[in-house]
Amino acid sequence: MQRMKFSVGLVLLCVLHMWIGSSSGCFAEDGGHLELHLEQKFITAAAGCAQIPCGFTDLPTAYMASEIWFKGSPESPLGPEEVEKTNGLSRALSTLKECSIILWDLIGLDRTEEYGFMLKLATNETQIFPETVQVSYSAVKMNISLSSDVMVATKMTVLTCSLSDLCLASDPKITWKGLRSKKYFPQRHRLKEDKVLKYYEKLLYTPVPEDHQAEVTCEVTFGKNLTASASVTLTVHSEPQILNSSACTQQQNLLTCVCVSQGVPLPDVHSPLLQDKSVIASDGHMIVKSTFMITAEDFGRIGTVICIATNNLGQANMTLPVIFEGNPDQSNEIPVIFEGNPDPDTE
Ligand SMILES: *[C@@H]1O[C@H](CO)[C@@H](O)[C@H](O)[C@H]1NC(C)=O
Ligand SMILES: *[C@@H]1O[C@H](CO)[C@@H](O)[C@H](O)[C@H]1NC(C)=O
Ligand SMILES: *[C@@H]1O[C@H](CO)[C@@H](O)[C@H](O)[C@H]1NC(C)=O
Ligand SMILES: *[C@@H]1O[C@H](CO)[C@@H](O)[C@H](O)[C@H]1NC(C)=O
Ligand SMILES: *[C@@H]1O[C@H](CO)[C@@H](O)[C@H](O)[C@H]1NC(C)=O
Repeated sequence: MQRMKFSVGLVLLCVLHMWIGSSSGCFAEDGGHLELHLEQKFITAAAGCAQIPCGFTDLPTAYMASEIWFKGSPESPLGPEEVEKTNGLSRALSTLKECSIILWDLIGLDRTEEYGFMLKLATNETQIFPETVQVSYSAVKMNISLSSDVMVATKMTVLTCSLSDLCLASDPKITWKGLRSKKYFPQRHRLKEDKVLKYYEKLLYTPVPEDHQAEVTCEVTFGKNLTASASVTLTVHSEPQILNSSACTQQQNLLTCVCVSQGVPLPDVHSPLLQDKSVIASDGHMIVKSTFMITAEDFGRIGTVICIATNNLGQANMTLPVIFEGNPDQSNEIPVIFEGNPDPDTE
């Protein structure tokens, strides 16, 4: 009963003070203030969220309607998607009720915002506290790096994607995009450092030759609903391979032999007995196409055409199959689809 009497008096005094324009808060019956305790007046937000510790003089629930945080002025109350009540942030709470919050998804231009707190009482009156907190925040910094500049196909390497200064309440997730090899193992790391989270993922990755010049992206989701990403272009060295589209095509008395090889650095391609007769084309990237012309008579003399591709990582060779054009039985044995096969009639 004693408690109820105290509370009625307190609410009445609050109302009175607001009518006469007092800004210093309500007075309890014993002369003490209704107090708002903000431990920090200036907070540097980390990426994704900011945590504001807060406590205020508790009121009996019968006289309390709601606790409201606002940005700038009381006319801009924060919605539930921007703010989350949380406990355990404030250390000065023995006599106070906790009003600590997490502000979510702070993003955009570097800036400072002011936040304040008010109480709506059961009487429909509002108690706005004069104390405010400044929150400064800056753009998210993301970092993707490779352990080495040049990767080698089939050799495991490490890709690292890191986010610095994430807020502690954030639950980041990293997604990698653009990887062609299925051989990868992510290792996640979280480090708490001076009230922020350093989060990074090391990806143990074994590239395939086709990863050369591929753009790899790491995308991070964090906060409530934020994403950021960073990309790198891979350089993947690989030993030569001679592709199965390589073949000789015989048209009447002439064979056109095409050797298609792949490798980084671009392989040097030759055929031992036909060296100075080749025409070389390349995509400038990882494929070299060498075209050799040879008469049926010369071919009869050497028997087979061998193509050899070499770069600093190794060598590959292949005896080219021969397709007799206009003879469906034999050409069906070696199904070769090769784009841009030179037509000797036009030369
Ligand atoms: C407070 O406002 C609500 C709606 O605006 C109203 O229903 C209620 O009766 C009011 N309470 C008092 C004590 O004035
Ligand atoms: C990005 O990563 C590199 C290499 O790990 C490091 O030197 C640099 O400090 C990082 N930058 C940021 C903003 O974390
Ligand atoms: C997340 O953010 C995107 C773009 O900012 C928005 O379109 C989407 O509605 C948001 N989703 C949720 C659940 O808030
Ligand atoms: C060529 O084809 C053979 C048999 O189909 C296959 O084993 C080989 O891996 C292929 N080589 C390349 C370079 O695709
Ligand atoms: C072709 O490759 C095989 C195996 O890699 C090697 O043993 C052989 O000597 C090569 N032939 C030529 C002509 O380079």
